[in-house]
Amino acid sequence: MSVESSVRAVTTLRLKEMKDRGEKISMLTSYDYSMAKIVDAAGIDVILVGDSAANVMAGHETTLPITLDQMIYHASSVVRAVNRALVVVDMPFGTYQGDSQAALDSAVRIMKETGADAVKMEGGEEILDSVKRILTAGIPVMAHLGLTPQSIHKFGTYNVRAKEEAEAAKLISDAKLLEEVGCFAVVLEKIPATLATKVSSELSIPTIGIGAGSGTDGQVLVVHDMLGINKGFSPRFLRRYANLYEVMTDAVSRYIEDVKSCDFPNEKEQY
Ligand code: KIV
Repeated sequence: MSVESSVRAVTTLRLKEMKDRGEKISMLTSYDYSMAKIVDAAGIDVILVGDSAANVMAGHETTLPITLDQMIYHASSVVRAVNRALVVVDMPFGTYQGDSQAALDSAVRIMKETGADAVKMEGGEEILDSVKRILTAGIPVMAHLGLTPQSIHKFGTYNVRAKEEAEAAKLISDAKLLEEVGCFAVVLEKIPATLATKVSSELSIPTIGIGAGSGTDGQVLVVHDMLGINKGFSPRFLRRYANLYEVMTDAVSRYIEDVKSCDFPNEKEQY
């Protein structure tokens, strides 16, 4: 592979240019090769290898259990599929909080072992040392504020964040700090739309919203949610673009029927 062809078409710089000209940024999660191939070919701008893999791929209740090795496995599978999109990988819980050297080591492993383009980290001022240290190594960082699922045990709920003035003020100040130190974008999860619009207009880097209204510079959803593979998760912010749970259940049921009735395989389907 030449140096040129190893650089994907969407870069952090292109995302900034999109914000500047008012073009919305599309982002979806993927965790495996086959899904990432479809998502990339459809023309998505950013693929997030989210630690939501802990929920949708592994069935955990929270994102906390997923390990760095597991994130690297998912991310390297995704990177092998992607030609165009920018690939961002979530740094998992416990790999960057409180120790900036450990944070840098984790981010370097992600970049070296997966071939991804950037990492994403949850939190504001509390993780600033780690963010700065990772940035000094030339690794692009996407920030994540508002509802930060790795802190679920601190919040105690997945409800909307920053409804109170003090939390909203901290979020704005964190967003500005993260921009100042050099983050290339910030995810705003489950905060009031008016606050997300304000943050988006006050930052020069792009904001990507999930449950944060239409005033952000882009939108992100978990791909299994928007494809309707998860039946039981129906937050207000989720728009379902397909009902793959039904489609897949129907296909599997028909296969079982055909096997049981000896309809499959037929003469043309054998050697
Ligand atoms: O892990 C994830 O999927 C995320 C998105 C919800 C932004 O962080």
